[in-house]
Amino acid sequence: MPSQQVMNQPDGAVYTTSQGRPVQEPYAAERASRSGPLLLQDFNLIDTLAHFDRERIPERVVHAKGAGAHGYFEVTHDITDLTCAELFKKVGTKARATARFSTVGGESGSADTARDPRGFSIKIRTEQGNWDHVYNNTPVFFLRDPLKFPHFIHTQKRDPQTHLKDPDMFWDYFAQNPEAIHQFTILFSDRGGTPQGFRFMHGYSGHTHKLVKEDGSFVYAQFHYRSDQGIKAFTNEEAVKLAGENPDYSTQDLFEAIEKGEYPSWTLYVQTMTPDQAEKFRYNILDLTHVWPQKEVSPLVSFPFAASGTDVLFASQYPLRPVGKLVLNENVQNYFAEIEQVAFSPSHLIHGVEPTADPVLQSRLFSYPDTHRYRLGANYAQLPVNQPVNLPANFQRDGAMAFYNQGARPNYGSTFAPLTYKKQPYDVSKHEQFIGGATLDLSQVTEIDFEQPRDLYQRVFSDQDRENFVKNVAGHLGGAKSEDVKKRALSVFAVVDQQLSNKIAQAIGISPVQPLKVLPAAEAFRFRANLPH
Ligand code: HEM
Repeated sequence: MPSQQVMNQPDGAVYTTSQGRPVQEPYAAERASRSGPLLLQDFNLIDTLAHFDRERIPERVVHAKGAGAHGYFEVTHDITDLTCAELFKKVGTKARATARFSTVGGESGSADTARDPRGFSIKIRTEQGNWDHVYNNTPVFFLRDPLKFPHFIHTQKRDPQTHLKDPDMFWDYFAQNPEAIHQFTILFSDRGGTPQGFRFMHGYSGHTHKLVKEDGSFVYAQFHYRSDQGIKAFTNEEAVKLAGENPDYSTQDLFEAIEKGEYPSWTLYVQTMTPDQAEKFRYNILDLTHVWPQKEVSPLVSFPFAASGTDVLFASQYPLRPVGKLVLNENVQNYFAEIEQVAFSPSHLIHGVEPTADPVLQSRLFSYPDTHRYRLGANYAQLPVNQPVNLPANFQRDGAMAFYNQGARPNYGSTFAPLTYKKQPYDVSKHEQFIGGATLDLSQVTEIDFEQPRDLYQRVFSDQDRENFVKNVAGHLGGAKSEDVKKRALSVFAVVDQQLSNKIAQAIGISPVQPLKVLPAAEAFRFRANLPH
């Protein structure tokens, strides 16, 4: 960010007003007499107060608390058989990157160790534009119908009347929307919900994307960042204690590690599936409540939430293929300019990487730039941290704070000084019939939704993980006042595992409940079976 450098003042800078006029005494407000009123002509005072009055911008509506740093992304492996993206044309290519990690539900002053998914955002500044990875530390998500997102988030935030976090609304949402079970199972595990800072967690696209070649052929792809530091997590007790003692634990840990030269890094992998494989696949690849499976055992890749030594795995059928490395080796000079104002969006993609019709991804393509225009203003892309390497050339002009307004370049499609239009050679509409149809019923919950969480709880978790999980859920669910909400939540856990539900019930002093009735797995395939393809 060269412009940022330019703005940094050398040591010993002379104090001035915002207009550059040196001021002899910055602290003395001008008065009409020794004890008289203030003077309207005191520009320094008014300049200072008026700017102070406008210091706050809206915090992010979600993921408000976070920390970040700069570094680089390096291509380490050849994947030109998968994508025509220019970035991957040459192994060894490096691009400047900025990362921001966050919690989701809390305000910008909330505790870093709160039980929550963690945001995992990376901006890679390629020669062909910014490529943003706006991922989480969990491979799945709470929902597959994007219309539920604001409802869901409201239940994680504060009650409209009491302004308190409310376990009743938290679990009421869960009980009404059981497709969230997989993410809740991860969230109430230590590894998913209370990672030890930002350095010791993985990052996942969750959504399926497409990697496309010049001839239009493509594979479906999921991206995984795996921490080179390994995975570490706090127990609930440790996380709660730290939330009181040092609510900025993860922010401090990241900053200090980089200051000490212990640069955190992650290896980026890609998992791919052909369109043909996708049609035969048990899980809908456009439904991000599922992972690409762990049925097959690969000694290379351990499931992120497994206890150390228990290598349960991402399918060897869909192996993880190494792509590159992200290294964070530079702390920010100015948090507000470089992290608070950074604008990540899943719609910031590069040629050769395309979105799929996953409805949640599709909604996110709209929502992020929309919130950036509100949070940062219409010209948010001109802020130094958001600028692409090669400045844009287009017909966007003016608006508040347009400091890069493209000079004398025509502001319409002119024949006098035409811009060159680069044609996209490939057609991304292929295979749309399958993917459109596969996502018809977003809220239907079937036995399919419980297979992976059951696997996680019964097979992947260690005995200790299972014990902690029961304690973690009981500690939260036990805070709900409504007996009905508690029973309904327990009935969802009972579909995963009756013993699990009984243990939680016992821990919160409730009699065991019957499992919620869910549709058989076959129902999940009905839509797909009827599709024309
Ligand atoms: C932040 C919307 C689902 C990861 C945000 C923000 C919005 C938003 C409005 C604030 C952005 C800003 O102010 O800059 C949504 C909607 C979703 C959704 C509408 C679903 C319909 C997801 C999913 C993931 C995710 C599935 C991960 C796979 C993130 C991350 C951030 C974020 C990492 C923080 C970005 C940063 O560090 O600046 N989301 N989100 N979100 N979201 Fe989502």
